[in-house]
Amino acid sequence: MTLKEGKESFCIKYLVLGISTIALLTIGYSLYKPLPDGFTVSRWDRAVMHVVEPALRVAYYYPSHMFSKASSMVQWTRSALNFLSKSLGLGVNTHGEIDIKWHNWNGTPVKVYLPLNNKTSTDGAVVFIHGGGFALGNVDMYDSLVRRMAYETKTLFISIEYRLSPETAFPGGLLDCEAAIEHLFEFGKVQFGINTSKIVIMGDSAGGNLATVVAQRRAARNALPKLAGQVLIYPLLQMADLQTVSYRYFHSRLDGYALVDPESVAYYYMFYAGINMDEKSYLVPSVMSNGHVAADLHSEIDEIMSYEKVIESTRTYKNSTIPNRWAVRPSLEAQHLMQPFLTNPDFSPLMRKDVSNLPATMIVTCEFDVLRDEGMIYAHRLETSGVPTTAINYQNGFHAMLNFHSELYEASKAVIDIENWTLKTINSIQP
Ligand SMILES: *[C@@H]1O[C@H](CO)[C@@H](O)[C@H](O)[C@H]1NC(C)=O
Ligand SMILES: *[C@@H]1O[C@H](CO)[C@@H](O)[C@H](O)[C@H]1NC(C)=O
Ligand SMILES: *[C@@H]1O[C@H](CO)[C@@H](O)[C@H](O)[C@H]1NC(C)=O
Ligand SMILES: *[C@@H]1O[C@H](CO)[C@@H](O)[C@H](O)[C@H]1NC(C)=O
Repeated sequence: MTLKEGKESFCIKYLVLGISTIALLTIGYSLYKPLPDGFTVSRWDRAVMHVVEPALRVAYYYPSHMFSKASSMVQWTRSALNFLSKSLGLGVNTHGEIDIKWHNWNGTPVKVYLPLNNKTSTDGAVVFIHGGGFALGNVDMYDSLVRRMAYETKTLFISIEYRLSPETAFPGGLLDCEAAIEHLFEFGKVQFGINTSKIVIMGDSAGGNLATVVAQRRAARNALPKLAGQVLIYPLLQMADLQTVSYRYFHSRLDGYALVDPESVAYYYMFYAGINMDEKSYLVPSVMSNGHVAADLHSEIDEIMSYEKVIESTRTYKNSTIPNRWAVRPSLEAQHLMQPFLTNPDFSPLMRKDVSNLPATMIVTCEFDVLRDEGMIYAHRLETSGVPTTAINYQNGFHAMLNFHSELYEASKAVIDIENWTLKTINSIQP
């Protein structure tokens, strides 16, 4: 190599380095999107989310919008989330004190988290049902959260691997959860020495839907022993009104972030309803405007959704304005397809008429979540029906934040609140 050639390759190296640096900075800059005011509480939380949120956008939000088939979008999102979740929750150390084993209960795989230190603080148990829009997520993705709660509460935890849509539509996943829970009621005492009067059911997002539907159905048939409690973490409870204040808030505060958005909620409910979304995705804009609600269902739905005053107090949050309701785009086809589900309490548990027989309830909602209002309305309905209810709205929280429980202060605090409520509830069961 001559001196001239050496100099040239040296220059080229720096040129390449320079161009790549500029490219990376440009990408970083173009992805940067300041989070809205009040989103997460501490500087640390905001810093973490300013890295995590764009990463989620690149990993699944942008790519998932490029598929022409909705089922391919689900497949992509599943693998992206499975991959990303491997790096979350690394801070959890249970010091080898939790024995974790797969079982098969009435045909449903479950993972059992058994504290080994022989100092369980209760003889109760918690059944956990993971979230993911009925279509995403799995037991392993929630492993660090469930392991942490089993460790910190020194209580038996069971996490259910129910079947997902679109492969398995409603009520397949629900029946899986019921089968597993009935096994625990039947054999929990013999297999684990628990007192089956002290079982709490817990779920986040779509898992919160499944948890409360199981609780409602047991209550409706007076099944004994009763559940000791239910913990519903930002649950999905209805799809009859996708224009609640919190849905409309989304468009003034959260549009374009990789957070649970109205369009995804519509898709996931429709997958769960067994609709072939590879062919019917053109119905989604109607559903997002409530155009899927047939006229003869209005009075029944309005009665439940009329609890606006419950959420009135949040309407001036940080003085941001809430967009008005937008025009309904009626679709007879969507109305026909969704008719069997909108007021069916096994699908939309907010619509259950009698909720008075339900066990003690904790409902967690988050300010930055389209599903905030339905959680608040459900809490209000339970309370006025005489169910002991604890409702906490995390002012700086967002949907799915518990998946970041070992990274974010706000999420970790919610986990501690949930653990405390759960222990208190288990320990207060009377003979
Ligand atoms: C817990 O109890 C079981 C059975 O009584 C025993 O085999 C095990 O060694 C104990 N574990 C600890 C950590 O003490
Ligand atoms: C909201 O607006 C009122 C009146 O302009 C003002 O006094 C108040 O400080 C504002 N609140 C917040 C949280 O910005
Ligand atoms: C949870 O309960 C523990 C033990 O009772 C208590 O020390 C702690 O302060 C409680 N934490 C919260 C956030 O309420
Ligand atoms: C379960 O706990 C309740 C309430 O503390 C108690 O009355 C009952 O005897 C316990 N059942 C068993 C089988 O130990």
